[in-house]
Amino acid sequence: MLTTTTESAADVAWDDFDRVALPVSSIPAVNVAAVPQRSPLRYPGGKTWLIPHVRAWLEPMQPRPKLLVEPFCGGAIVALTAAFEGLAERCLMAELDHDVAAFWHAALRHGSGLCELIREFEPTRASVFDLADTPPPDLLAHGFRTLVLNRTRRGGILASGATLARSGENNKGVASRWYPETLVRRLQDIEAHSERISFCEGDGLALLQTVADLPGAVAFVDPPYTAGGKRAGSRLYAHHALDHRSLFKTLAESSIEFLMTYDRAPEIIDLIGEFDFHAVEVMMKNTHHASVTELVISRRSLFT
Ligand SMILES: C[S@@+](CC[C@H](N)C(=O)[O-])C[C@H]1O[C@@H](n2cnc3c(N)ncnc32)[C@H](O)[C@@H]1O
Repeated sequence: MLTTTTESAADVAWDDFDRVALPVSSIPAVNVAAVPQRSPLRYPGGKTWLIPHVRAWLEPMQPRPKLLVEPFCGGAIVALTAAFEGLAERCLMAELDHDVAAFWHAALRHGSGLCELIREFEPTRASVFDLADTPPPDLLAHGFRTLVLNRTRRGGILASGATLARSGENNKGVASRWYPETLVRRLQDIEAHSERISFCEGDGLALLQTVADLPGAVAFVDPPYTAGGKRAGSRLYAHHALDHRSLFKTLAESSIEFLMTYDRAPEIIDLIGEFDFHAVEVMMKNTHHASVTELVISRRSLFT
């Protein structure tokens, strides 16, 4: 539900969107170091900072959700947390990016093979370029290549145009985010929970339409941020075109509980009003330590 200082949400012109007053979440964005890092992928737009909100959303649900769907999963931090912490009986994640999909298939089906490749790999500029230029012979090699590129490129960005990390942590260059033991441990943890995690490669919006009325299903929705001409999503992800209105409409017409995140864009403020959703603001620091506002959107009022 939206309020403005002087008029109803329906009357708010895009130019006026800065005047729309949204409640600030009662839960602060958490320092990511305070939350267990479960994903082997370093994901641009990763939602580790939102985990306290996710717990506060899911923990009170009685009965426990049968299925948590994460239709734009990327690094899948929410689905992994829900599976590891028993916040839902099962998790279903989807991703359109074929390379990211290969990683999740390999992690869930060939975890020990992936761990072996990680232990053997020496990340240098030459070995990373070589891997990037060689078509992977099978799913395991493809998933491994995605992991290596994700952890050696600047900001974890896989979209075309991404460059290799130069100096990185401790001046270690491409290897600065390559922690073999940590990656192996995270993959072993995922394998230990893999019976409760399913992954499908495909369109998250279509998946949402499929589960729209599934009893006991909930959805965590973290689409690429491209609404209102914002460029962040298009720079970060190979797949970033999305009909945001159609996503809102799908959720409005479904009966499942959802939590959705967006950055604060005029088009999104309009859609929240149009579909009578609720939203709170969460202030957080981005990777450049600047304060940014993210929106946490839901069907009913939460976190106030
Ligand atoms: C904001 S990121 C998700 C980040 C994730 N929540 C995390 O914490 O790591 C959005 C993801 O949606 C994917 N994507 C874009 N369009 C999609 C679509 N139509 N269906 C499924 N995934 C899509 C992108 O490739 C990207 O990985």
